Amino acid sequence: MKDKISKIKEEAMEEIKDLNNMEDLEELRIKFLGKKGELTKVLRGMGKLSNKERPVIGQMANEVRQDIEKEINNTKESLKKEIQKKKLEKERIDISIPGKNIVLGHRHPLVKTIEELENIFMNMGFSVVYGPEVETVENNFDELNSPENHPSRDLTDTFYITEDILLRTHTSPVQIRVMKENKPPLRIVSAGRTFRFDDVDDTHSPMFHQLEGLVVDENVTMANLKETIDTFIKELFGEDMHTRFRPHYFPFTEPSAEVDVSCFNCKGKGCEECNGTGWSMELLGCGMVNPKVLQNCGIDPDKYSGFAFGLGIDRIAMVKYGIDNIRLLFENDMRFLEQF
Ligand code: DAH
Repeated sequence: MKDKISKIKEEAMEEIKDLNNMEDLEELRIKFLGKKGELTKVLRGMGKLSNKERPVIGQMANEVRQDIEKEINNTKESLKKEIQKKKLEKERIDISIPGKNIVLGHRHPLVKTIEELENIFMNMGFSVVYGPEVETVENNFDELNSPENHPSRDLTDTFYITEDILLRTHTSPVQIRVMKENKPPLRIVSAGRTFRFDDVDDTHSPMFHQLEGLVVDENVTMANLKETIDTFIKELFGEDMHTRFRPHYFPFTEPSAEVDVSCFNCKGKGCEECNGTGWSMELLGCGMVNPKVLQNCGIDPDKYSGFAFGLGIDRIAMVKYGIDNIRLLFENDMRFLEQF
């Protein structure tokens, strides 16, 4: 019996060495020390032993049980430590790895330009208003005194949605909305997208941006218009910039003018860029609001007069930021946009 017990101890100790997880360890405990385990089986036969042998064997069996238990516990401890170590290694945080860069965005050059324009006009006492990009033909053309045969009404010039609804071809319909909904005195600017069937080139895009201005009050004259535009241009581009008003035709203003500004390159001296004229052409259109338009909106033209203007924002942004192709503004290429 002694031999058997010794052998059990030897076997158990041998098997424990090869184990490397908790489940196997528990299985081994049951196999040797459990109720139906090897050691228990041997001890069951103790009844047959003599009185003298029994305590000796009993003690030996107890010692072996304790030894095996101890070994199991030791192995358990070192297994636990190993598992912990592996876990720590796996979850280790390397504080020397550089952090993720948070890229801060910034405003698009066009949005910056719009905000700059709006600020200038707000400082001159104008309010900033908005109008929809999808407009009625009525607001976009009819109420603005644009006749049926006007070329801008042509299918090939304009994005119609239905016969009566279109993508606005200019920001001028905002004038109509403002005049119909408010009573003079009025002093507003409105910036936004506009749409025309333009062939795409360096300075043309079917989608572009305009800023519309409108002033209606008693005794508003062409002198007010000229002073306002001149002040605006000097605020935007600098004191050394001048304006030149050339007669023009717009259905919704009478008289009408186009405004040229000193050449951005030579400031008026004459250079290659301005063909020696000293002027940058057609920066904006303007005029005294046509009395018919006032009437269309329920404003008495005998009591009130007004001026209006519309300017291309994309061109101004291009001049401001030295951009030579309008498409760059709309392609959303980060390599380009990050420069501003
Ligand atoms: N709407 C005109 C255009 O798109 C620009 C314009 C001209 C606006 C004269 C005006 C104005 O308010 O008075 O070409």
